[in-house]
Amino acid sequence: MEVIVDQLDIDDLVECSDLYVSTFIAEPWNETWNKDDAFDRLNDFLSSPNSVALKAVCNNEILGFLIGENQAWNGEKFHYLKEICVHNSKHRQGIGKNLMNSLEAMMNDHGVSRIYLITQRDSVPSEFYSRLGYTENTNIMVMGKAVGESS
Ligand SMILES: CC(C)(COP(=O)(O)OP(=O)(O)OC[C@H]1O[C@@H](n2cnc3c(N)ncnc32)[C@H](O)[C@@H]1OP(=O)(O)O)[C@@H](O)C(=O)NCCC(=O)NCCS
Repeated sequence: MEVIVDQLDIDDLVECSDLYVSTFIAEPWNETWNKDDAFDRLNDFLSSPNSVALKAVCNNEILGFLIGENQAWNGEKFHYLKEICVHNSKHRQGIGKNLMNSLEAMMNDHGVSRIYLITQRDSVPSEFYSRLGYTENTNIMVMGKAVGESS
């Protein structure tokens, strides 16, 4: 299986939305995405002026992708990785690693000194990122608050 990593653009978003929905409605996430919401989310991310997006393609089929954004940070530039997913039937074949390696290789040219991301503790992605050398910043916590009528 020859997998090629290439730049993802707007014409890929419908296919990526389908892939995104099928990935995140499955275990372990069991989320309830519909394709329109997935498209809107990915389109917003891709439309960011400093977005970086890559797809892994085999035989004209997108098997995985990632989308993130370069951000100025305190005299440096960081990359915030917002989404990565690989087709459920193609896990553990090195596609996610291939995408991440390609992203990391690009970052020098972008003047980026660090990639950061948010993920769930003790999960498949946390294992995946750890394996690739990513470590937890224990000084940081993610906070949230319900707002609006449901709160
Ligand atoms: C996380 C994800 C992108 C990994 O992609 P992948 O193509 O399956 O990962 P790779 O095959 O490149 O794995 C690289 C290494 O990560 C680790 N890893 C990946 N999946 C793992 C799993 N299920 N359990 C333990 N370790 C795992 C392994 O060390 C693996 O190397 P090995 O197979 O030689 O042992 C994929 O599981 C996915 O799309 N999950 C659903 C979407 C998601 O959770 N996205 C992240 C949200 S923050």
